[in-house]
Amino acid sequence: MAHRWQNDLTPADVTPYAAYLNRRQLMAGMAGLGLATLAGTGAKAQPLNPNTYEEITTYNNFYEFGTGKGDPAKHAHRLTTDNWQIEIDGLVERPGTYGFDDIMAQMSIEERIYRFRCVEAWSMVIPWSGFELKDLLDLAGVKPEAKYVAFETLYRPEEMIGQKYPVLDWPYVEGLRLDEALHPLTLMATGIYGKPLLNQNGAPLRLVVPWKYGFKSIKSIVKITLTDTQPPTAWNEALGREYGFYSNVNPTVDHPRWSQATERRIGGGLFAKRQDTLMFNGYEKEVAPLYDGMDLRKFF
Ligand code: MTE
Repeated sequence: MAHRWQNDLTPADVTPYAAYLNRRQLMAGMAGLGLATLAGTGAKAQPLNPNTYEEITTYNNFYEFGTGKGDPAKHAHRLTTDNWQIEIDGLVERPGTYGFDDIMAQMSIEERIYRFRCVEAWSMVIPWSGFELKDLLDLAGVKPEAKYVAFETLYRPEEMIGQKYPVLDWPYVEGLRLDEALHPLTLMATGIYGKPLLNQNGAPLRLVVPWKYGFKSIKSIVKITLTDTQPPTAWNEALGREYGFYSNVNPTVDHPRWSQATERRIGGGLFAKRQDTLMFNGYEKEVAPLYDGMDLRKFF
């Protein structure tokens, strides 16, 4: 498949973590990203070493399994993901139930090393694998009237023990504007470091929208609905003054309770200096045109 997006990471950023990967997989991943030929596309100042597998799989937000950072790794093994189905409905040509294995058989899986910035002001760099959301939406055929995409996580309180508590209005829901959903950076992730997603990271498939705060990247998706109206989103419904629909990473628009100007990179150690947060999490060149003319303070 032709590559529609170029990473700003270099092979040097990846190589120290080769131990986690089968070497051939890594090379395939780099070729997939165009890294082998990347000559420099305005690389950002920050070092972009991916976080370790351990960090990415033990420091999580997945409130369906509890609100502590270690809760998902402790409790998510209860989730059964076999015969996973995704219902795709609303304004599509081919509504229906799509099996995860059938989807995977039709997708070309790529590696994407992305910055990941939580609204809580911590961050990681994660080597995802997956496919572009656009390719999945193409399977269902988006109708011209569609303007938004709504996503829903599994609701199964017997396995997702956090759903027994009214922390959020379950199931967790999220949404994107259609042009955001179709953007080549928007990924349906199915793996990390070349291995299938662990449950705590949103198995078997979750959204990854690298220029938005992490809560937009909804996990363990069972339903996708194309609509012509802006869908409700879990954190906006819970605390609308603090969490907007757009939630683009923006160092100049603070959260009402803390600054978004800097972030703490997980794994940096207790005394590591905080890093400057980048506009659109470093993907400004790619995504700023989506928001031309919009007041990003109003549409936070
Ligand atoms: N998806 C669901 N269903 N439930 C959640 O609680 N948390 C979000 C997002 N997706 C969440 C979710 C938040 S706040 C973040 S920061 C990321 O998942 C964390 O992803 P990670 O644990 O894989 O790093």
